[in-house]
Parts: sequence; C-alpha cells; structure tokens
Amino acid sequence: MEVRGAKVVGLGSYVPERILTNAELEKMVDTTDEWIVSHTGMKERHIAAPDQATSDLAYEAAVAALRDAGMAATELDLIIVATVTPDMPFPSVSSLLQGRLGATNAGAYDLAIGCTGFVYALASASGMVQSGMVNRVLVIAAETLSRIVDWKDRSTCVLFGDGAGAVVVAPGEPNEGCRAFELRADGTNWQYLKTVAGGSRQPVTQAAIDAGETYLYMEGHEVFKLAVRGCPEVSEAVMAKAGVTHNDIDWAVFHQANRRIVEAAAKRLDIPDDRVICDVESYGNTSAASIPLAMDDLYKDGKLKTGDNILLAAFGAGFSLAGAVLQWTK
Ligand code: ACO
Repeated sequence: MEVRGAKVVGLGSYVPERILTNAELEKMVDTTDEWIVSHTGMKERHIAAPDQATSDLAYEAAVAALRDAGMAATELDLIIVATVTPDMPFPSVSSLLQGRLGATNAGAYDLAIGCTGFVYALASASGMVQSGMVNRVLVIAAETLSRIVDWKDRSTCVLFGDGAGAVVVAPGEPNEGCRAFELRADGTNWQYLKTVAGGSRQPVTQAAIDAGETYLYMEGHEVFKLAVRGCPEVSEAVMAKAGVTHNDIDWAVFHQANRRIVEAAAKRLDIPDDRVICDVESYGNTSAASIPLAMDDLYKDGKLKTGDNILLAAFGAGFSLAGAVLQWTK
C-alpha cells in the first residue's frame, strides 16, 4: 500500500522591526564590527520590542503562512511550535497561538530542541500527515533569544537575533513534498549549550540570577566543532535516505549559526556557493527560526521553483542534529 505524501503548501516569516547593528554592540560590550564579521559573518540582527513575546512573533509568521496557503485557521488539525524561548514555562506557545488564531479544530504542542526545532517539528508534522492521523498542520519556529542572552557577555550577545518562520503541511501524492528526515541526538554533550535555571533542577532563585544561570550559556568553540562535523554527516545521511546526491540539491538551507559553519558544511558536501543560503548577515542566529526564515527569503525572492530539491540541516542544544530533504511543490 502506498503511503500518501506530506507537502508544504504555505510559507511565511516575521522579524521584529528593531535592528541592532554591530556598531551599537561596539558601544555595549568590548567587541568590534571587524571581529563579529570575520568570526561569524553577522552585521545586524532583529530584536523584539519590549511588549513582544515569542507568541507574538509566531502569530505574524503563522498568519503569513496561512495566507500563503489560502487556508483558514479553522481548517488546521494541529499546531506545533518549536521554541526554547516560550512566553512562559507553561502553557505552551502553541496553545496561546491556537486561541489567538481561532484554530478551533486544532490540537497544539511545543517542541524545545533549540536550533534543530524546526526540522524536528516538520518531521513530526510530515509523519502524522503521511499516517493519516491529521490532515493540515501549522509548523512554526519562533524565538526571542534576546530575552535570555546576557547583554554583558560579548561571547554570546553578538550572535543571536529574534524571529519566526512558519509552514503549513498538508497531504500530497505518495513521495511528494517531504522526502526524508534524519533525526539525531547526542545527550552526552548537553553541557555545551544550556540555560541552567528556570527548571526543576535549578529554579529561579536570587542566587541563580546572581550567578547568571538564567542566561543562555554556550561554549562556542565546542559547539562549533560538533556543528562542523555533524551538519555534513546528517546531510549525507538524509540525502542517502531520500535517494539523492549533492548534485540533485538545488538549495541547501543549513541552520544559520555562523557563516563559517555554513561554508564549511557546503564545502564538505561539495555543494556550490550559489546553491547555499546564508543570511546571518541580516538576522544573526535565530535558533529554530533560522531555517524557515531563510526558506521564506528564498521564496519571496522568487528563487524557489516547483520541483526544486531542498536540503535542510540543523544542529543545536542537546546536542541535537536534524536533516531533511524536501521537494518544493508550490
Ligand atoms: N568580540 C571580540 N572578541 C571576542 C568576542 C567578541 N564578540 N567573543 C569572543 N571573543 C574573544 C574570546 O574572548 C577569545 O579571546 P581569547 O583568545 O583572548 O580567550 C577569542 O575571541 C576567540 O574566542 P573563540 O570562542 O575561540 O572564538 P571562535 O573563533 O571559536 O568564534 C564563535 C566564536 C563565533 C562563538 C564560534 O565558536 C561559533 O560560531 N560557535 C558555534 C555557535 C553555534 O553554532 N551555535 C549554534 C547553536 S545555538 C542554539 O542552539 C541556541
């Protein structure tokens, strides 16, 4: 029996208006535009307004994706939000969104896997649509990392930005749309990227605040090494599953953490520069949101063509890795 496919039928994104430049960061911490650009490729990032939380960014991206799909929120069966910066520990961002969108027929849950969150959420949506469990799923990745970054720590605060991206997934013909996924985790390396306080092991206490444990902590060099190795590995594995090679890939959209990581992965996979997306210059690292944001820019620029093969690969907290091969069907 042939299994039905799952395809992206709508795509949208949102970034807050406020742009924070490297020149402004030079006045905030001991850094330079030259260091940031040469080590990361970043020039500016978007920062949420004081009254904007993750669900507000997610809402804008969701509305754009639904509009693109020509679909009403009431037609959705499920909403999945990937985020590590929810509005509050609970309820979930997806629940808040379900109410605000008026998605009265949809269930809702969040995934907290850091930068791989969008690919994990898309894999979940695709599997559930293929199985026939649900028909239409709104997948959103949204982050407000500016709220958990220590703005006095130059080694992390220059790297991150806020934003959201969303897709609508719906049934397709067998093997149409989402072709393969590869999901991996290495929990032995969790300590390199974390926010320690705010959970059951270390609640938010004055001592935790004083120790900086409510902030994002990252050992950048260790994450860099895991990412440079892991991103090509998960890409190769998912391309093999999909039955394609690097020559078949029209667009490679890797997690946008650092220009050097994106370039190293593309080189190792032998994918030419003009087929590799890198937008860290304008957005910084928006964690889970980075891949759908980059996809939406490609789409809005009119570069995505029906039938194009897209390789997605992400790495992040956990340490987690995820890859996908999609065929663009819009
Ligand atoms: N300005 C100036 N100097 C700085 C800055 C800064 N903003 N930040 C660090 N430095 C200094 C360090 O203090 C260090 O100085 P020292 O040699 O005197 O000790 C020096 O620069 C080199 O530091 P490194 O950390 O070794 O620099 P590196 O070349 O590794 O670049 C970076 C750092 C950009 C963070 C890199 O390691 C990286 O991109 N790591 C991966 C990050 C990532 O991929 N995260 C993804 C997951 S994020 C998520 O899941 C939420």
